Amino acid sequence: MSQQSENNTLIRQNLMLIENERREIAFELHNEIGQNLTAIRTAAQLMHRQSEGRQTHPVAESIVALTDQMYNSMHRLVHRLHPSILDKFGLSDSLQELVGFSQEYMGLQCHLDVMGDLATLSQDLQLAVYRIVQEALTNAVRHGQATEAEIKLFVGKDALQIFVYNNGTELEDGLEALIHRKSSGIGLLGIQHRVHAWHGDLAFKNLDGGVKLSCSFPLES
Ligand SMILES: Nc1ncnc2c1ncn2[C@@H]1O[C@H](COP(=O)(O)OP(=O)(O)O)[C@@H](O)[C@H]1O
Ligand SMILES: [Mg+2]
Repeated sequence: MSQQSENNTLIRQNLMLIENERREIAFELHNEIGQNLTAIRTAAQLMHRQSEGRQTHPVAESIVALTDQMYNSMHRLVHRLHPSILDKFGLSDSLQELVGFSQEYMGLQCHLDVMGDLATLSQDLQLAVYRIVQEALTNAVRHGQATEAEIKLFVGKDALQIFVYNNGTELEDGLEALIHRKSSGIGLLGIQHRVHAWHGDLAFKNLDGGVKLSCSFPLES
């Protein structure tokens, strides 16, 4: 095995470990916190009901409202950590859901265009594609103040291509420089690792009034 493919295998194993860890944390959060929040909500509702006839219990009422808010935030967090929709319904529906989420919560008007059958991709590659698109959309809003995005996926006979265009501000530097900036997080690095792990190519291009990410992955026919 060449040094390069040995490295790619290690990166792939590492990414799978991270994803497994995320899944565990998501389940733990959902089970532990979710159950306790439900118990607090039920207790507050009971308090509210018992006070009926005398006076309504505003504190109990606000506890119910607060636990509902916390439950919704937790739900979003759990979903971000591990998009279980991917296991249940596959990449196409998950991306559609991500588009809906971006529109509703991030103010990003998205359009998704898929050509070919994403279900033919391996589970691991589907998760990698999901993470790449997720990070590209988050960055577009967080750093580029983008308001529109277009996602295109083509599944061909021997390659998968992904394009994510956004209308935000242009990248100030090349990919390597952005990754190594002190202030940078690990989002772009994660994209790069995923692309390398599946022997793909990655490019970012500034357009007049936007940024375009292009990835291509070879597929075994
Ligand atoms: N779509 C984008 N538009 C403008 N700048 C971007 C975009 N994506 C990334 N960047 C720049 O690259 C840096 C690194 O991005 P990333 O690795 O995702 O880390 P983080 O998002 O946590 O800062 C960002 O801090 C930002 O300066
Ligand atoms: Mg980021």
